[in-house]
Formats: sequence, C-alpha cells, structure tokens
Amino acid sequence: MHALNDTVKLNNGLAMPGFGLGVWKVKDGEEVIHSVRSALNAGYTMIDTAAIYRNEAGVGEALRQSGLKRDDVFVTTKVWNADQGYDSTLAAFETSMKKLGIETVDLYLIHWPTAGKYKETWKAMERLYKEGRARAIGVCNFHAHHLEDLLQDAEIKPAVDQVELHPLLSQVPLRNYCYKEGIAVEAYSPLGSGGLINHPGLKAIGDKYGKSAAQVMLRWNVQSDIITIPRSTQEAHIISNADIFDFELSPEDIDTIDALNEDKRFGADPDNFDF
Ligand SMILES: NC(=O)c1ccc[n+]([C@@H]2O[C@H](COP(=O)([O-])OP(=O)(O)OC[C@H]3O[C@@H](n4cnc5c(N)ncnc54)[C@H](OP(=O)(O)O)[C@@H]3O)[C@@H](O)[C@H]2O)c1
Repeated sequence: MHALNDTVKLNNGLAMPGFGLGVWKVKDGEEVIHSVRSALNAGYTMIDTAAIYRNEAGVGEALRQSGLKRDDVFVTTKVWNADQGYDSTLAAFETSMKKLGIETVDLYLIHWPTAGKYKETWKAMERLYKEGRARAIGVCNFHAHHLEDLLQDAEIKPAVDQVELHPLLSQVPLRNYCYKEGIAVEAYSPLGSGGLINHPGLKAIGDKYGKSAAQVMLRWNVQSDIITIPRSTQEAHIISNADIFDFELSPEDIDTIDALNEDKRFGADPDNFDF
C-alpha cells in the first residue's frame, strides 16, 4: 500500500481498501454520521461496522449524505453471535442491509467463533456470497484452529480474518497461517483500543519521523501488509491517522515494533469469551 485508497486483492479477486474507519462504540445518529463523513471527506474508502455496534443506520445515512456512489465505498458488517445459525444469519443479514440502506455488502463477517454454531452460519454466508448479496465473506476472531475446523467443511474459503492486532499482540503465527491459506489479515484495535496512544517506545520512534505513536502503529500495519481500521470520532484524529503515506519505517524500527509483542489482549480471547 502506497496511498490511502490503495487496495489489496482478496482470494476471490475482490479489491479491498487496505485502510478504513472502524466505528465500534460510536453512537448511532449524529456521532457516527460525523465520523463516517469526516473519514470519507479525508479520502477513506472503507467503513467497518457490525450489527452489534447498533449504528448501521447512521453509517447508511452518512453514506447517502456523502453523495458518493455505492461502489466508491467498501462497507463491512458482521453477524452477531446471538444470530448465528443458518436461518437466523440470513434474517440478520436482511436486517443489516435494511439499516444500512444497501442491497449488497462488500464484506460480511462472522463476528466471533461461537461454538457449535459457526459452521451453520458459514453455510448461510456461502449462500449470501453465491447470491451476490455479499461480495466477499470472512470471519473475525478466528484462531488458526477455528479456521482449520471451518475449512474442513467450507465450500468457500474465508477471504478475511479480522483479529485484534497491534504492537503488543502481533499475531505472527496466525499471520503466517493466513498467508499460507490465502486469507487476508485485518487488524482490529490497531491502536490497542486507544491504550497504546502514549506508548513511550512507539512515541520515540514517531519522534524520529515527526509522526505520532498512532501513525507509527498504523504505518507498521501498512508496511506489514495488514488491513487496518482505526476508530476515531474526532476529525483531526481521523485525518492524522490516514497521514501515513509520506514516510517509511526503517527495517530496524519495524524490528523494534515487532519485538514489543507480549501476546497482550485488550479484548476477549476467542478461546474464552462468554457473549
Ligand atoms: N471484529 C471484532 O470483534 C472487533 C473488535 C474490536 C474492534 N473491531 C473493529 O476495529 C475498529 C478499531 O478498533 P477499536 O475501536 O477497538 O480501537 P482503536 O482503533 O485501536 O482505538 C480507538 C481509540 O483510539 C483513539 N484514537 C484514535 N486515533 C487517535 C489519535 N490519532 N490520537 C489519539 N487518540 C486516537 C480513539 O479516540 P478518539 O475517538 O477520541 O479519537 C479511540 O478511543 C473498531 O472500531 C471496529 O470497527 C472489531
């Protein structure tokens, strides 16, 4: 990726922007409309929402207000755990499309690997893909063993695995597995959900380039070929987070960031969640 609107080619040939806006915890209505419109104004071309974020309606409203054509923005949404299963996933998909005000989504993801459910859910996702309602389908929070299990029965391979990934959780084994399987890795919580904004080591690296710790983390994603979706509700942050295509981290700095890994999660472990 060399520019904000550069894309990566998914395993089904679809071009997905490598950089987008996440909207978890962003309130529906004015707040999410402001975030999404700020991002689109700044040149972002990908928005990541989910049914459980309860802001799909606002995301849809922002898309319409922007005046952009449907094909100019790559939209991701996700099926929530309580809706997993075959029929319930199909119904949840229609609800999401209605809220977003669109007919077709670019990427539809299973939100978590709900035990005993995700294979049936995947069958519904495959149907939505075959019917052309989802241009690509994928998963979130799948460890390699979840993917291995899913692949035993899947007709269509997931295009994307969206997982928690930042300098304290670099996910190298999963990245290697996904690379081998042709599954794109997408980093959620790329700023540690905000917890790494003031990290001294990342700030020190940023100082060398006249960049912030946030910009260093996002640039590290981009240079590592990882799709990334930082969240912000502040226009200044939305703009500065995307201002990472005019510098390059040296191989030594990439190594320093890689070495920060502690396998530390800010969110739940997909092997141990209770929602
Ligand atoms: N699939 C999943 O299970 C899953 C789970 C978690 C997240 N996600 C997705 O990933 C997206 C990003 O992850 P996240 O929401 O956990 O957090 P994040 O992007 O790692 O961090 C967001 C936090 O950082 C702050 N921030 C952003 N840019 C900043 C800047 N330049 N300077 C200072 N502070 C800054 C934001 O506050 P301000 O608003 O004040 O800027 C916010 O508090 C989510 O929104 C969602 O779309 C998916």
